[in-house]
Amino acid sequence: MREGTAPLIRREDYLSPAYWIRQVDLTLDLDAAKTIVASKLTIERNGQQPAQPLRLHGEDLNLLRVLVDGQSVSFRHEDDMLVIDAPAADQFVLEIRNTIAPEKNTHLSGLYASGGGLYTQCEAEGFRRITYFLDRPDVMAVYTVTLRGDKKKYPVLLSNGNLVEQGELDGGRHFAKWHDPFPKPSYLFALVAADLVAREQWVRTRGGKDHLLQIFVKRGDLDKTEHAMNSLIASVVWDEARFNLPLDLERFMIVAVDDFNMGAMENKGLNLFNTKYVLASAATATDADFDGIESVVGHEYFHNWTGNRITCRDWFQLSLKEGLTVFRDQEFSMDMAGSASARAVCRIADVLRLRESQFPEDAGPMAHPVRPDAYQAIDNFYTSTVYEKGAEVVRMMHTLVGREGFAKGMSLYFQRHDGQAVTCDDFAQAIADANPDSALAVNLALFKRWYSQSGTPHLSARGQYDTAASTFTLELSQANPVTAAQPNKLPQLIPVAMGLVGRHSGQALALQLEGEAAPSGSHRVLVMTEATQRFVFTHVTEDCVPSLLRGFSAPVLLDDGLTDADRLVLLAHDSDPFTRWESGQKLALGRLLTALPTGTLELDEPFVHAMRGLLRDPSLDPAFKELALVPPSEGYVAEQTTEVDPQRVHAVRESMVQQLAARLNEDWAWAFAEHQVREGYRPVAEQSGKRALANLALAMLVRHAVATGDTVWPGRAYQRFKDASNMTDRLGALQALVNAHAELAAPALERFHALFRHEPLVLDKWFMLQARAPERDGRVFAQAKQLLKHPDFTLGNPNRARSLLMALAFFNPAAFHRADAGGYVFWAERVVELDAINPQLASRFARALDRWRHLAEPYRSAAREAVARVAARTDLSSDTAEIIHRALQ
Ligand code: PHE
Ligand code: ZN
Repeated sequence: MREGTAPLIRREDYLSPAYWIRQVDLTLDLDAAKTIVASKLTIERNGQQPAQPLRLHGEDLNLLRVLVDGQSVSFRHEDDMLVIDAPAADQFVLEIRNTIAPEKNTHLSGLYASGGGLYTQCEAEGFRRITYFLDRPDVMAVYTVTLRGDKKKYPVLLSNGNLVEQGELDGGRHFAKWHDPFPKPSYLFALVAADLVAREQWVRTRGGKDHLLQIFVKRGDLDKTEHAMNSLIASVVWDEARFNLPLDLERFMIVAVDDFNMGAMENKGLNLFNTKYVLASAATATDADFDGIESVVGHEYFHNWTGNRITCRDWFQLSLKEGLTVFRDQEFSMDMAGSASARAVCRIADVLRLRESQFPEDAGPMAHPVRPDAYQAIDNFYTSTVYEKGAEVVRMMHTLVGREGFAKGMSLYFQRHDGQAVTCDDFAQAIADANPDSALAVNLALFKRWYSQSGTPHLSARGQYDTAASTFTLELSQANPVTAAQPNKLPQLIPVAMGLVGRHSGQALALQLEGEAAPSGSHRVLVMTEATQRFVFTHVTEDCVPSLLRGFSAPVLLDDGLTDADRLVLLAHDSDPFTRWESGQKLALGRLLTALPTGTLELDEPFVHAMRGLLRDPSLDPAFKELALVPPSEGYVAEQTTEVDPQRVHAVRESMVQQLAARLNEDWAWAFAEHQVREGYRPVAEQSGKRALANLALAMLVRHAVATGDTVWPGRAYQRFKDASNMTDRLGALQALVNAHAELAAPALERFHALFRHEPLVLDKWFMLQARAPERDGRVFAQAKQLLKHPDFTLGNPNRARSLLMALAFFNPAAFHRADAGGYVFWAERVVELDAINPQLASRFARALDRWRHLAEPYRSAAREAVARVAARTDLSSDTAEIIHRALQ
């Protein structure tokens, strides 16, 4: 759709469809230039709706004929819809024949060509780009699909469900017929026609059934599929063990494709994956890549129940499947990580992600509730609010009803709704009904404000110890900020997991609230239901520091009112690793914010001492140390200020890092030496933590060396870069050189490119690393512009486009926000260029400037001007137009 003014679709306008489609019989004659689609639909009138013509969605289709019960009928086109005067009969068969041109489909939605093969992507509204349909998730049908195509070009023909027939055809062609017994919405339809090979594995589920798992990739990539297969097997085992949810299919297929807009897609029985989340070997993928694969494979697999068996009634309910499935994949990764401290590291990483992307979203023009109220382009609502905040909402339910209670709630949810298309309310109701005495059930309406209100609540806490009375009084209050489209906010239910830590002893104190007969342990969850609440702890034997929001028990901004001294107590003694980490981050953040007005920072000895203590603490995990020793990102620091000067933030943070590099120089050298992995590469937490800390240490050592003119550490880093036996170490060493602007960075980059020029996923890293390097004198921005012209760069491949554009605009504020507005000009040109190719990708990139109002001058005016320039165009896609116009509202 090339029109900026698509109508606003509202949640409250939901009506069930006028017709149901019960059966779909599709036959596709596959050809990249022209594919013929023949569809035969068994349709039933929905008695709950008044009689009306049948209106089918269709986009970029070439219609050949329409038959109703074998007879030709009259039809017309009305605003992108095919309108057919349906017969009076309650049930009829509609036959449609149309053609499409996959090789011209650069949107990567619908049926498209990638590297000689044909692939589909139907969520959210891609099926209408294949044939006319009631393309909405509450219309569920049983599909039978016949694929026909050239046997040489497309030796593999796949669709959902089970293969029921296959054979030869004339002219070097062949066919395959697939049947999926589960009724499904059109967004879960998929097909693949390509020249692929598969890794296969049989698994037996607890019921004694055998299932075939297959991972399809291009020839030559098979040796990079072992980790994905292991992750898939682990996912099958985990979902059965943790939630009693078995694999319900005879075969489960994953297909990797180079050109893909998102991470992966949970089509029933036939998941399509971005190659980034399938292919990995020690030589080409980092520890983070291995973790990403495990989590995305898990995520898509878990959708088979949460998303596919029970799906969404309408797209406003997207978080029903996404929030819940992200929660599930987070739990899976934690369970796989093993030790308590490895779990905590996972949790910290998840919270970092939430705060980096969702908190800013919730404070900007795109702020929307987890269950949005209105949209123009649904593609724009695959957001971190729906995904990550949605997962936090599910996590709060889990916290409120406990692990067992949550499992009971899940069973009730499936008992009630299996096979249906439902709402977020249905989910919350099931969890509450299974736990009638829980704080969740008692306050369900209040809790559900998490679904309806946008914005990050501000929680403030003030504590007071009374020596004479041996009491500790904690006063909590919440403020729910005004956000886009929501002026009036009500208090939300906030679970505050907490404990009290003795100021002198460092001990966890027993917790007994006023009116309670006895203490109940040293950790508990306070349930806040009002704007302001007071909790009085009695029998508190020593002055203490409250440890609040342990494990990040609610997605709020916490003003804890603590002093540096308090934070040092928590950093040293708190039993909760999350709060411990957070205390260190707040110590750093406080210093950065204090330094912002002047732009100069001089690190104090207590802070340096605390950081050294962390680094040297033998009881802490290396992975935890790495997270704790990296100061808050520039983006996060910027979030804490009202008028952001990205250059100032950059300068101050760089100065902090530089000082930590200098003053802990010997400690970094010690850490580097101490954390070498001697055994063979395995992508497991105990190895990856060491690699992460060693890489951080190396980066600090090289930084300090470059600053002081010393050449030893850069030389060592270069050597390590050359000799590395795995990508994590190789990239770490390369990054140390590049980020420090060392002279050896250029030859290292060149060598890296030569080594990996045939590995697309590694080339993405090469682009990204350069686009994300800390800016110095405009060099990084200049280099990014240069890279745009590199023969390996293309906007046509989403991973490649992201590796340069998103890396610069979202993750390198100081390179992007320039006083000369060069970054904004670059942004505006790319948005327009990309929009003509791939609107979904363009609208994501467009969001890089949606918070222009938050900037200080001269950035603010310049950014606004760039946004206005894009807004003035009349040829924007509705995806991009929605983002741009919201940004200007
Ligand atoms: N549903 C996919 C997921 O989260 C994401 C996706 C959305 C993929 C839209 C493609 C298109 O698992
Ligand atoms: Zn998902």
